Amino acid sequence: MATIHVDGRDYEVDGADNLLHACLSLGLDIPYFCWHPAMGSVGACRQCAVKQYKNADDTQGMLVMSCMAPVQDDAYISIEDEEAKAFRANVIEWLMINHPHDCPVCEEGGHCHLQDMTVMTGHDSRRYRFRKRTHKNQYLGPFIAHEMNRCITCYRCVRFYQDYAGGGDLGAFGAHDNIYFGRFQEGTLESPFSGNLTEVCPTGVFTDQTHSEHYTRKWDLQFAPSVCHQCAVGCNISPGERYGDIRRIENRYHGDVNHYFLCDRGRFGYGYVNREDRPRVPEWRERQRVDAGPGAAGVVGGTISLEIDDALDRAADGLRSARRVIGIGSPRASLESNHMLRTLVGDENFSTGIDARELELLVRMSELNTRCGLPSPSLREIEACDAVLVLGEDLLQSAARMALAVRQAINARGDALAAERGIPTWNAEAVKTLAQEAHHPLFLATPEATGLDELAERTLHAAPDDIARLGFAVAHCLDAEAPAPEALDDVTWALARRIGEALLAAERPLVIAGGSLGSPAVLEAAGNVARALARRAQAGALSLVRREANSTGLALLGGQSLEWALDLLANGDADGVVVLENDLYTRAAAARVNPALQRADCVVVLDHQRTATWEKADIGLPAASFAESDGTLVSLEGRAQRFYQVFEPSYIRPETRIRESWRWLNALKASVERQPVTPLTLDEVTREVAATHSVLAPVGDAGLSAAYRVHGLRLAREPHRYSGRTAMRANLDVSEPRVPQDPDTPFAFSMEGYAGYDEPRREVAFAWAPGWNSPQAWNKFQDEVGGHLRAGDPGVRLLAPLPGDYDYARDLPAAFAPRDEQWLAVPQPRLFGGEETSARAEPIQARMDATRFTLSARTAERLRLTPDAAMTLILGERRLTLPVTISATWPDGTVGVPSQAGLPLAAPEWARLEAGEVSA
Ligand code: SF4
Ligand code: SF4
Ligand code: FES
Repeated sequence: MATIHVDGRDYEVDGADNLLHACLSLGLDIPYFCWHPAMGSVGACRQCAVKQYKNADDTQGMLVMSCMAPVQDDAYISIEDEEAKAFRANVIEWLMINHPHDCPVCEEGGHCHLQDMTVMTGHDSRRYRFRKRTHKNQYLGPFIAHEMNRCITCYRCVRFYQDYAGGGDLGAFGAHDNIYFGRFQEGTLESPFSGNLTEVCPTGVFTDQTHSEHYTRKWDLQFAPSVCHQCAVGCNISPGERYGDIRRIENRYHGDVNHYFLCDRGRFGYGYVNREDRPRVPEWRERQRVDAGPGAAGVVGGTISLEIDDALDRAADGLRSARRVIGIGSPRASLESNHMLRTLVGDENFSTGIDARELELLVRMSELNTRCGLPSPSLREIEACDAVLVLGEDLLQSAARMALAVRQAINARGDALAAERGIPTWNAEAVKTLAQEAHHPLFLATPEATGLDELAERTLHAAPDDIARLGFAVAHCLDAEAPAPEALDDVTWALARRIGEALLAAERPLVIAGGSLGSPAVLEAAGNVARALARRAQAGALSLVRREANSTGLALLGGQSLEWALDLLANGDADGVVVLENDLYTRAAAARVNPALQRADCVVVLDHQRTATWEKADIGLPAASFAESDGTLVSLEGRAQRFYQVFEPSYIRPETRIRESWRWLNALKASVERQPVTPLTLDEVTREVAATHSVLAPVGDAGLSAAYRVHGLRLAREPHRYSGRTAMRANLDVSEPRVPQDPDTPFAFSMEGYAGYDEPRREVAFAWAPGWNSPQAWNKFQDEVGGHLRAGDPGVRLLAPLPGDYDYARDLPAAFAPRDEQWLAVPQPRLFGGEETSARAEPIQARMDATRFTLSARTAERLRLTPDAAMTLILGERRLTLPVTISATWPDGTVGVPSQAGLPLAAPEWARLEAGEVSA
């Protein structure tokens, strides 16, 4: 710690910080541009000048750039010094010389760091009267718009894109006062983290193209704290709504999870909420029961829209007349909704809606997270690891934000080298120069080359069983009691020994595996490595990647597999089914789903998307998406987190009958029991979840209860300058109705309520503080800049290692042996298009690569396939025809099948391949 004296006041600060970091953490305002809490200091913009004095008697002092000046004990500085203020005013004037001053038409306006800093610095009139430098803009793809004239040359964009995220296709071009930030050639930005440019760039050069389509100023958006539903990482988001549409998603700072950054699937995949074809009223379908064979689930008759009571009555009648009703839940729905479905149908009739093989892996992952001695790390903890082994996960595709955290962990070797030489880690350029290509060791074992390979010390591209065998061999190298794989070749043993050495030499080794390949052996191998480390009393962590937003929660909640449910229906052992937010056709073959739905006498589907399953419902109940509902998800870390309703859909569209699934299910239960509905609040349902499932007992603390108040006030969802509320519904009614009331959360659908930062709170709908309109306002909510929220980061962790000396898995696979006429079909996760709901968003569709099989060159040669040629994969009755990618690294004897490509594949299966175009 150190004491600094700022403008006559004394403060205790962290002596390792720079002055800017220290002052911002104290809540003092200093303007800045090039510094970023996640990327450190480069001293490029000169905006953060302050006066520093030698001692209390020094009256002259000297100007220093606060971001480049280390904190010294007993330092005297002044932010308010007239010379410092004049210097900063000059700097902003220079920076603004070529700026177009086009705030009224700039989409950054209203949440712009440049605007904030310009006002803070007092630059309010323009003296420059000459021609401005101008640039041509580039097309950068469906996510990011480009307006280079607004650039102030702070270099944050390339520092984020290249240094932080590892992108290679955005750079700085030119020299002197004519620098261009863009791509060498126009084209789609390749990084899956490109969306962060919209928040990293302090001006309006990079803006959200998906927001442009329906632009609204930040102050006119309604927000709520939410959690990304697009994968299992659990990044915190701040979605903004206007007129019943989600207009954009901004990062919501979480000190342990996503910090300042999201992946592009999470940021731009929200379009499914706004789809015109969404079901918004209950539907009833008259089914003509025609046995159309396994390829078709009966002929569907007319569809009739229903009112709520009628829909509930018809659904209840259908379910009451069934002999046995089962429920099919969903890993993309909240704990509360799944719990209410389970309550409706009874524990013995509840399916998680997850494929049996995937469910087995999920349950195993929960066990491994508690029973192998190593904790499940947060992303912040991952960033602090100093040796990483990844078994079977292409993280950029399956858990993109985690891949970004792993990149920081590997690159942190530079920080360690700097610390040895007394260079502060915030001195970014010095650390980068020193580090050069120095990395902490990273070892990757995946079937295909990945975007992290360039950072890896060694990679292995192999079939799932061979990846598992490497993992088992590593465990054996760490502890001779761990079983060794038989007949492992010398090269792989040498690799295993090197990995073992690196993990043992590390202070915080990390093992990552997961369910992407659908291989239990890979998971068990990771478990053995973790156990071996734990037995050696080695600190470390085990991170296991799940697929969907609530996969972890569903495994903890428990229930049967999807196949169990489909079999009961197809065999006639159950004749009524309620399907919750789950398109069964994305998880099981149509030949399996169709007979099940066809035979059931009553099919009730709740969803917010018009899926193939929805179209097969007798009664469809329009469910709320994440933006219209509240609930709890459990991330892959085991962190239960609450997401809050962003807007009330019926306020703008009174004809809509959308309800939270858990609310529908409560009403449906009452209707089935012929009882009046007892309204439930979210707090009551969450308490029931906690009381019913001991492992979920802490979920009540995952979010704020509805009774939470600050100074007696609810929390505002709308910024204080929110405009047009009285005119918003003028096309419907000239008198403004009361704003919707929210019985479930402490947030108001209004600007009336607490929106400040001075009272610490864990759940922040939108980051704003006086003078801070941009995402940099998060500074004001943190215990120190870039640290944790002052009230603590949201969520509670459910998975902690239990003490015990756990035995090793001993069922080791033999080496993978290719077959003559069959190929092992291996699931391949895909970031864009590999997730059911975001794949329905147009910008994501525009960003998707064509779905293709991946093959080795040898397989392609054998089948006489050239790149782009079509190939048919045959799995029993299922056939899928796609073009092929011929890969130099893909293991021979196997074929990669992209997720969500039309052939559900939860685990490796032997398939036949046929060259050429064969009708599916
Ligand atoms: S484009 Fe934005 S982030 Fe990049 S240098 Fe210019 S102002 Fe800075
Ligand atoms: S990593 Fe996952 S949770 Fe995070 S933003 Fe991307 S899709 Fe959303
Ligand atoms: S923020 Fe200090 S020089 Fe740019």
